[in-house]
Formats: sequence, structure tokens, C-alpha cells
Amino acid sequence: MPVPELTPAYRDAYARINGLAIVGEGLADRHFRKLAKLVPEDGDELWRLAAMEGGHAVDFVGCGRQLAIRPDLPLASRLFAPLHGLFNEALSAADPVGALVIQCLIVESFAVAAYRCYLPVADAHAAPITATVLADEADRG
Ligand SMILES: [Fe+2]
Repeated sequence: MPVPELTPAYRDAYARINGLAIVGEGLADRHFRKLAKLVPEDGDELWRLAAMEGGHAVDFVGCGRQLAIRPDLPLASRLFAPLHGLFNEALSAADPVGALVIQCLIVESFAVAAYRCYLPVADAHAAPITATVLADEADRG
């Protein structure tokens, strides 16, 4: 029996999971950079979080490359578009609380929940990377 990560079903599912991880982490990077400008008194921490999220996106790009899959970025962008739109609305209204709730509560909770579901079935390359990302997300709380 082939190892799970090499089955067509895993690779097909992982293309969508990987797309969501890459787009979600990239979005978090951009959101935290915008938040750093909106809330300059917490800028150091927000810039640090942005850099961390950007690193996660790079790590997940590597996971996709390892399996030679093409991440489904269009699907992920479509799924994240409403949250990104709400974040931009809060930003336009100079509403730091609204923007922080959308990124730090909703987007991050989604990421943690998704990674916790995925981790038990992750392939050997992605599992330790996903575990490290999950620990990073939980550590900031
Ligand atoms: Fe992250």
C-alpha cells in the first residue's frame, strides 16, 4: 500500500489545503503590516507577527514543492476574499478594534483549527513544519 502522501487523493486534497495555507499566511502577513501602521504603539510586535506569518507562507510553499503539487490559489483567494474585504473596511474606517478582531481572532482561529485537523494526516515532510507553525500561532496568545 502506498504511503498516504503519495496517493492521488492526498495530493489532490493537499493542493487545496496548501493553497489555503499559503494564501492565509500571506494575507496574515499583509494584514499585520497594515495593523502595524494603524496601531504604531504596538508596531514592533505587529511587524514581528507579520514577518512570522510571511515565513509561514514560505514554509508552506516549500511543502507544496516537496510534493510537486500546484496549490489551488484561486480557490483560496476566493474563500478568503470576504474576510479580507471586511478587514479592509475596518482599515478604511480607521477601526483598529475591528481590524484586530478580524485578523487576530477570526483569521487566526481559522488557521489554528485547520492546522489541527490537518496535522494528524499530514505527510512526513509537512507534519513537522505544520506543527511548528501551529506552535508559533499558539505561542503568541
Ligand atoms: Fe501563521
